[in-house]
Amino acid sequence: QKIPATLIPGDGIGPEISEAVVRILKEVEAPFEWDHQLAGMAAVDASGDPLPKATIESIRKTGLALKGPLTTPVGGGFKSINVTLRKEFELFANLRPARTLVPGGRYEDIDLVLFRENLEGYYAALEHYIPADGDPKGIAISTGYNSRKEARRIVTYAFEYAVKNNRKKVTIVHKANILKLLTGLFLEEGREVAKQYEGRIAMDERIVDACAMQLVMNPYQFDVIVTTNLFGDILSDQIAGLIGGLGMAPGANIGEKAAIFEAVHGSAPDIAGKGVANPVALLMAAGLMLQHIGRKDLADRVQAGIDGAFGAGVRTRDLGGQAGTKDLTDAIVQHLR
Ligand code: NAI
Ligand code: MG
Repeated sequence: QKIPATLIPGDGIGPEISEAVVRILKEVEAPFEWDHQLAGMAAVDASGDPLPKATIESIRKTGLALKGPLTTPVGGGFKSINVTLRKEFELFANLRPARTLVPGGRYEDIDLVLFRENLEGYYAALEHYIPADGDPKGIAISTGYNSRKEARRIVTYAFEYAVKNNRKKVTIVHKANILKLLTGLFLEEGREVAKQYEGRIAMDERIVDACAMQLVMNPYQFDVIVTTNLFGDILSDQIAGLIGGLGMAPGANIGEKAAIFEAVHGSAPDIAGKGVANPVALLMAAGLMLQHIGRKDLADRVQAGIDGAFGAGVRTRDLGGQAGTKDLTDAIVQHLR
């Protein structure tokens, strides 16, 4: 039984790492039937539109996409493609797990999951500039908003994830001491949701700045973290740093009708086309995609390949080694269970 899915190779290192991932998925006989589509600079070059209608229609049909990193063209009035996709398909939950895969890094045995609210907060980007006579007096204003509905939905999603994945604790991260309304509402709704899980999943609260410090001092006190859009953006890169950097961090944008899986990193123009990019972040995103369609068995096989390759000492340059994309991919294929 084939499952149609949209494949967007992306820009920069995107095509190289997508090719590696598709090859590994083929090896484990993942049931995806790929519909290849363009977005980002590749799409601008082909059609002048960074997010062509055909790409949106494909995702609407399949409800499932694996997306390489996209270069957001600077200037020209282009909106962020990622933000547009999240809005278009109401992808309310952004899942970003961080787990130690390579021993000998800053920390051993990190295993954290962060959920970021994906539609609201300051990412609403309702911005304007009030000019004044003489520039030094000009001010920029940005209006963020959080709704009770989305706060409830993302925190519930995080707790449900905790239940299904045997997690013990959910930490709600906020800044309700200063942004009393904007993030106070998030905290209030979070506390309400947490009550329904009392006795099953523990609830904890942290102010975002203290949380950032504690993540460095003692990351082991955290299990699942749930927070608003901008804080989640920042903290998810921070937790990627705990486990060896962006080359190791997958992400999933999940809605009720569609889900888009991607690496947390960007198109890495500095190393594009050199065959040295680490494909693991996108591969782990594909692993999340396999779990999403109920094929944890295949996700486990892929994970065994990754663990086996790293266990054998194969390291790309971002991990301090010499292996190229193809070397690591070959090693992963050899270790698939
Ligand atoms: P970046 O994540 O592309 O690169 C940051 C650094 O990490 C670079 O030194 C790069 O070589 C390295 N790196 C990233 N991924 C790697 C991998 N898989 N293997 C080895 N090294 C890796 O961030 P940057 O440079 O800020 O952004 C470049 C472009 O990507 C921009 O146009 C940005 O808008 C876009 N971007 C797209 C994202 C997406 O589509 N989800 C997310 C973040 C940025
Ligand atoms: Mg980010």
